[in-house]
Amino acid sequence: MKPKILVTREVFDETLDYLAPHCDVESNQQDVPIAADALAQRLAGKDGVMCCLTDRVDAGLLDACPLLKVVANIAVGYNNIDVPACTARGVMATNTPGVLDDSTADLAWALMLAAARRLTEVEGYIRAGEWTGWRLKQWLGVDVHHATLGIIGMGRIGQTIAKRASGFEMKVLYCNRKPVAKEVEQRLNAKHVSKDDLLAQSDFVILQVPYSPETHHLIGAGELKKMKRTAILINSTRGGVVDDAALVAALTDGTIRGAGLDVFENEPRLHPGFLDLKNVVLAPHIGSSTEATRRAMAMTAAKNLVAGLTGKTPPNLLNPEVKRP
Ligand code: DGY
Repeated sequence: MKPKILVTREVFDETLDYLAPHCDVESNQQDVPIAADALAQRLAGKDGVMCCLTDRVDAGLLDACPLLKVVANIAVGYNNIDVPACTARGVMATNTPGVLDDSTADLAWALMLAAARRLTEVEGYIRAGEWTGWRLKQWLGVDVHHATLGIIGMGRIGQTIAKRASGFEMKVLYCNRKPVAKEVEQRLNAKHVSKDDLLAQSDFVILQVPYSPETHHLIGAGELKKMKRTAILINSTRGGVVDDAALVAALTDGTIRGAGLDVFENEPRLHPGFLDLKNVVLAPHIGSSTEATRRAMAMTAAKNLVAGLTGKTPPNLLNPEVKRP
């Protein structure tokens, strides 16, 4: 008998085609978010799940689904999964690292350029039919080229963001729990500094740390005050890394110049203050959302799931300490 799995959100046809020979697949192709209690019911009796950051996999869910062997997240971030709870119950947890680095870095850059050059503001102005002609002092933005870029979190995606900075001849600062290897610093022309120095010196601050209790509100009112008044903050990693209420206040009173945001606390319900502000570029958590990358993420998750359910080690196993039966 094939293992039974649930795919909690709509995926691509080729993902289902890959899964079908190996698993008995129930898929939510209607893409209706499944509430926590309904998820527990639909997962009871399943051996595996392909889930997304919108699904919370915690001890309660795992206890309600004792047959579960593999939880395959379609995301690199896995703050929606209680990995220690999985480990304690012998459940393998996997994610999708690598395949989304470039697309996610591109989106961070898109937000940075858009915020610097006020693209969403000017587009609104044109669409409203308000453009009456060229003026010298019209819609003045700030330069990205030759500016100082500060990256908080220098993992794979942080490094991919830094790589792009050389074309803009930027000075790159970063902070990380520990400095990256010297050859990586040299290749990226990046300098490790303290968080305070990074905040004080950077024209653009990009956040690229995973969300965890340690990174909750890593940027709050105090940190925003340490930034230049002309600086722009980019968050394309996870909501909750920034204290959104403090950011709304800082954007309103001019503590910093602007922001570009792809992620929010409590998304999709964002702080209403953002909607009234012109100096923030908003995107609906689309960092990895290109056709090719989302296909690759879904296929990576599917391969992790099938590997775990067929006695192999999933390529992206987060808890290798789980003993396979
Ligand atoms: C990730 O992979 O963590 C992304 O945020 C999902 O889009």
